[in-house]
Amino acid sequence: MKKKMTITSIKKAKADKPLVMITAYDALFAKLFENSADMILVGDSLNMSFAGKNDTLSASLEQMIYHTNAVCAGAKNSFVVCDMPFGTYVNKDDALRNAIKVFQETPADCVKIEGGLDKADIVKHLTSNGIAVCGHIGLLPQAFRSEGGYKVKGKTEDEKRSLIADAKAIEEAGAFCMVIEGVKADVAAEVAKSVEVPVIGIGAGVDVDGQVLVFSDMLGLFEEFTPKFVKKYLDGALLVKDAVANYADEVVKREFPKEEHTY
Ligand code: KIV
Repeated sequence: MKKKMTITSIKKAKADKPLVMITAYDALFAKLFENSADMILVGDSLNMSFAGKNDTLSASLEQMIYHTNAVCAGAKNSFVVCDMPFGTYVNKDDALRNAIKVFQETPADCVKIEGGLDKADIVKHLTSNGIAVCGHIGLLPQAFRSEGGYKVKGKTEDEKRSLIADAKAIEEAGAFCMVIEGVKADVAAEVAKSVEVPVIGIGAGVDVDGQVLVFSDMLGLFEEFTPKFVKKYLDGALLVKDAVANYADEVVKREFPKEEHTY
């Protein structure tokens, strides 16, 4: 069995090897991912792929706690990151109260919050009160409505400067690693070089310190849309639909159950 990553080994990985992060929302899949992934993210993306909503914004803290407990139960040997949902860290007091709730009600190893320079004081407040924080900079899914969609970042010199300032600010505030999403590859590479902690990319090219993908995207289970950065490692939707159609067909023809499935 793989050794569980720790904050120390995750930080050290920056110099050694790319980190593998994947999302999971339940015990079943978390257990399947455990041996290949260094870190499992209970992302608020579950609001879209699991709960069928248009964006992540209506995910609740209770939902995140429920799914984090399920993931931790399935992958007992994994480093688990719990996403703080939209509206739960608007100020230092709310952020700390809600992150403490996550730490007290789940075995999650850290929380993840979206934002850079603007959230540095909140990251600092959490880390100085015993909550480990993974940052999230670049394209912020929780800004989907306020920005009018998903906007790739790092297209101008100004955006590059501001991404580097974001990364440095949350590192300084105590984040032990960060996700960088939807950023031009050359800019993401510079951001990764500008800090000492690992910068894990999604839609941010190969020259960062690791990769994260949403499991339902990479297994081809989520059919609504596929972002450019997703590689489908499986045509999951097709396989599942074929299997269920096959089952339905056999039920109708009374070909299932056969003798070996019968008491
Ligand atoms: O919610 C999520 O799954 C995420 C990833 C996109 C990094 O934050």
